[in-house]
Amino acid sequence: MIHNFCTCNSQMCKTCILQNIEDLKKHIKEYPDDVKSKQILQKLEKRYKNIYVIGKTNYIIDRQIGSGEDGIIYIVKDKDGKEYIIKKIFKETSERKILEAIEKCDNVNKILGYSKEYLAILLDYVNGITLETFLSIQEPLSELNFWHLINQLVDGLYCIHSLKYNHLDLHPNNIMIVKDDKTGMYDLVIIDFGRSQKIHTDKDRYKDIVCLFRVFAELYDKVNDRSDIIKEVHKLIDLCIKKQQIFFTKGKPLEDNGLDEINSIKKDITTHVSTKFIEFIDIFLTLCYGISDSKFKNSKSKRKSKRKSKRKSKRKSKRKSKQKSKQNLYI
Ligand SMILES: Nc1ncnc2c1ncn2[C@@H]1O[C@H](COP(=O)(O)OP(=O)(O)OP(=O)(O)O)[C@@H](O)[C@H]1O
Ligand SMILES: [Mg+2]
Repeated sequence: MIHNFCTCNSQMCKTCILQNIEDLKKHIKEYPDDVKSKQILQKLEKRYKNIYVIGKTNYIIDRQIGSGEDGIIYIVKDKDGKEYIIKKIFKETSERKILEAIEKCDNVNKILGYSKEYLAILLDYVNGITLETFLSIQEPLSELNFWHLINQLVDGLYCIHSLKYNHLDLHPNNIMIVKDDKTGMYDLVIIDFGRSQKIHTDKDRYKDIVCLFRVFAELYDKVNDRSDIIKEVHKLIDLCIKKQQIFFTKGKPLEDNGLDEINSIKKDITTHVSTKFIEFIDIFLTLCYGISDSKFKNSKSKRKSKRKSKRKSKRKSKRKSKQKSKQNLYI
């Protein structure tokens, strides 16, 4: 086909395709019985519709892989066949702005572009499976891989929170897992920031933290050879999940019961897990027990000093009884 205003004639050039469409239409007008041209026209029209221009690059839809409340998810390709994701949203949301604000966080889906015209967010394609699928696969998880996944989730979430955003929809379908075939290790990427919002207080981090605990518990079930430390951390997380359920059903902060057990396990594991993970646990506890951070620390130090004075009085009474028995010897 010859056309006037673009000469690249690339399969991905919208201008060329449009010109070809116009030429074909003229041709069909002259030769209405030309079935082949009509079929080509249909194909070209579909191709034209499936090409998104974002920035200076053209992407063509390859296939649809998801659809949700907020939009449709497509795998698209550039002219070299490299794959990307386009999330075509139904209405303008803050997702794009939030993705841009957190783009330097590791383990978070990277935004590559946006088109206001198509309401389309261009994202890095994560070539893996969702955590939901991963959990359903009957394949055990090594403890090393387990911690690798948890640490990535903790790091990603921590980074998002430190930039004053939360996720608010953290579940196994919004977490992708990618296997590195060379090392056998799994990498993790947090996706879908459609519900994400600005954080104002630690209270706004609570929902994400509870979801983190749930992911922990689900992944733990896949670990077959468990060390004492992982069992201890699991016990703590399990207690936290139970406390959270009571907290929600009661609708008011928990009384001090159970906090000592949690704190004593926490003391055992502190040196074995990341400080960010411990911080998440502390935020959870301060909110669940309805005590401010300083009060929480105070209550910890109160308990510490209580224990200290207990030990002191024990030593004192021991000394006294020793003295008594010594005295008895002289009687
Ligand atoms: N960057 C990506 N790489 C690979 N797959 C992705 C990517 N983003 C999304 N997906 C796939 O598309 C699905 C839906 O994406 P996403 O959760 O962002 O959309 P959604 O409209 O919010 O859907 P839902 O309402 O189901 O949560 C994901 O569960 C995942 O399988
Ligand atoms: Mg989703």
